Parts: sequence; structure tokens; C-alpha cells
Amino acid sequence: MSALPSVNNSHRRALGPIATPDRLLLGPGPSNAHPTVLQALARTPIGHLDPLYVELMGEVQELLRYAWQTDNRLTIPMSGTGSAAMEATLANTLEPGDKVLVAVKGYFGLRLVDMASRYRAEVVTIERPWGEAFTYEEIEAAVKLHRPAVLAMVHAETSTGICQPMDGIGDLCRSHDCLLLLDTVTSLGAVPVYLDDWKVDLAYSCSQKGLSCPPGLGPFTMGPRAEAKMAARQGKVPNWYLDVTLLNRYWGSDRVYHHTAPVNMNFGMREALRLLAEEGLEQAWARHRRNAERLWAGLEDLGLSLHAPEHLRLPTLTTVRIPEGVDGKAFCLHLLNAHGIEVGGGLGALAGKVWRIGLMGFNSQPENVDRLLELFRTELPAFHPGAASDRPAAVAV
Ligand SMILES: Cc1ncc(COP(=O)(O)O)c(C=O)c1O
Repeated sequence: MSALPSVNNSHRRALGPIATPDRLLLGPGPSNAHPTVLQALARTPIGHLDPLYVELMGEVQELLRYAWQTDNRLTIPMSGTGSAAMEATLANTLEPGDKVLVAVKGYFGLRLVDMASRYRAEVVTIERPWGEAFTYEEIEAAVKLHRPAVLAMVHAETSTGICQPMDGIGDLCRSHDCLLLLDTVTSLGAVPVYLDDWKVDLAYSCSQKGLSCPPGLGPFTMGPRAEAKMAARQGKVPNWYLDVTLLNRYWGSDRVYHHTAPVNMNFGMREALRLLAEEGLEQAWARHRRNAERLWAGLEDLGLSLHAPEHLRLPTLTTVRIPEGVDGKAFCLHLLNAHGIEVGGGLGALAGKVWRIGLMGFNSQPENVDRLLELFRTELPAFHPGAASDRPAAVAV
């Protein structure tokens, strides 16, 4: 046997064991995972075709239906983040030339536009400023004008903190032979969502926000009307990994290998959904609302102003206007470095203008609200113009 060539060690590093700090994640996501979920993640993996795992898959699917309030047969946690599930909704239903109407009122609406155009759809948009929602009349006028095959919109816009009212939109879509696609990434498990009552045909979400898991799974669901459009496709779904028909041979009754499922992530998802069911959806929604209201009142008492009008505000994500002259980024860095708390900055049109505070899943607790408010009260004044010299020293944690 000939000698092996010598190994190139130039990328070799002698690292110590991982030592990430405990952070309190009060930004736009990920949120902290529930400790029970973290324990589930640390269990020894079992085979992805093991009968016990197959049983667990069924439990995850059934509890996702509960969380979404849907009877959809095709309800699957995609292996991938929310964006993978987002892409799956489009990849499976769109054919080149299909008209897609995207209602854009923030960053994630724009992502839907980009993705749909990659599947060669004819994309048309309607837009609202970042911090507003669409009225039913605006949606109705656009659907009547454009006659799209799909109307895509974001229920909970994480970039703005706005919750889109859904009244009547499903019926409108049905009467115009249009599928309704809804992003529920920042609402599932935390903000009321009634997919079947709202007549939503396609939806997706993520694991790392209202469900209190780490990032890594993208819940996906598809109703009968979307299934019918998928079944009538002329060509193959142009994305092998996200092809729901192939995936459903694994997640449906056949249990045929498709890809090696991230079994531990699904252990975590199973536990997260079990905890949600144990708490009860209405109770979880009410908890998110209560803690968000506590945060809103506290911020306003401090003289800060909230970007989203109260009737459209998301309990999961609060946008706070950065006061004139304050270096918002420096304050976020201070919270992170000195206190181990993550708060987000603005995205896109709101970059530099707002902070984004998330109270999602396990993190939606009054103690977290009070801790953050106290830091805003005691430490923000040092970040106002002219107060720089009083700034508390940032301590690395
Ligand atoms: C509303 C919304 N849609 C889609 C996504 C994309 O999800 P992910 O980052 O998990 O891929 C996010 C991420 O935060 C989001 O907030």
C-alpha cells in the first residue's frame, strides 16, 4: 500500500470546548428555547425509520395541526429554517408564468417577492409603508385587478411589529379562484392563528420563536386547494429537497426514505408542541398578550414611543422608536456585552430607526419584561446626546 500524502494542517486549530454564554434573547429571534426542549435535543438520536421515531413524527404532525388550527393532511416540519418552508410553499404550487400577488408591508414580504420570481412566477405587488397593515378593501381591489393564482402575505411582520388583520381575505381568495399563502413565522404558538377558519391554503413557520425551540425546522402546511394545484402541475417541482409529494412518502403512511431527518430537532419540536398543548393555545396567546402589554405600558411610561399603532401591534415583536440623537446600535451592544441581553435593530426601511424587542414562546415572561424595562430606565439615559461620559462601562460576559 502506498504511503498517504501528508495532511495539510494549515486549517487545524486547537480549540477549547465550546463555551457560549447564556444570553437572554429578546430580539426578533431566535428566542431562548424551553429547558425541556433543550433536554430533548440532548437525547441519544434514534434511527429516522425506527418505529418509535415514526410514532413521534405522527405526534409532531398532529400537534402542529393543533397549533395552526388546521386539519390539513400535508402538515410537515421541513428540515430547514422558516425560509425553507417558505420556499416549499412556493416551489410546490407555482408554475412558470403563474401570477402571484404579494402584499408587501415589510422585509419578509420582499423575500416572498424574490423567492416567487425565482420560480419564474409573474409577480405583482401592492405595498404599504413599514408600520402599517392592509385594509380588506386594498386587498380586494388588488385581487380584482390582478386576478392572481396566489395571494401571498405575512401575518406577523417581524421587521415592523405589525399583525395583518385576516377578516374576509380567505373568502375573497376563494371567490376569485386564488390560493391564500400566509407567513406565520412570528405568530405560530403565540398570536391567534386559525388557518382553516381563515381559509388559508398554504402556510409556513419556524421553530425558533413562538414554539421555543432552537432554529432548524420550518413547519409547513398545505390545504386541499393547494394540493389540487400541485397535482395538476405540468412539470416536476423544480426543487427536489422541498418536493412535498416526495417528502410525504416519508411523512405520510409509506415511510419511504427521503433524506435523513434531523431526529433530535424533531425530538425538540415534539416537546415544544407538547408543552404548548399542555398550556393550551388560548392560554399561550393570552400570556403573550399580557406580557406585551406590560412591555408597551412600561416603555411608554419611560417616554419612548412605539412604532406600530396599538390595534395592529404584534404581542411577539415590539418596534420602539429610537429617540432622536441616541445611538441605538451602541445601546444594543451595551445590553449584550454588559447584561447578556439581545435586542434587535431595525431592518430595511427601519434600519437605525427602531429597536425590535421580541417576547416569544418561553421568553414571554413578566420577569423578562421587568428586567429589560429596568435597564431601559437606568442605562438608556447615558446614551442620549451629551451624556456619553456617564455611560456605564461595557463589561464582556
Ligand atoms: C416573518 C418572517 N418570515 C420568514 C422568516 C425566515 O425564517 P428563517 O430565518 O427561520 O429562515 C423570518 C425570520 O425571522 C420572519 O421573521
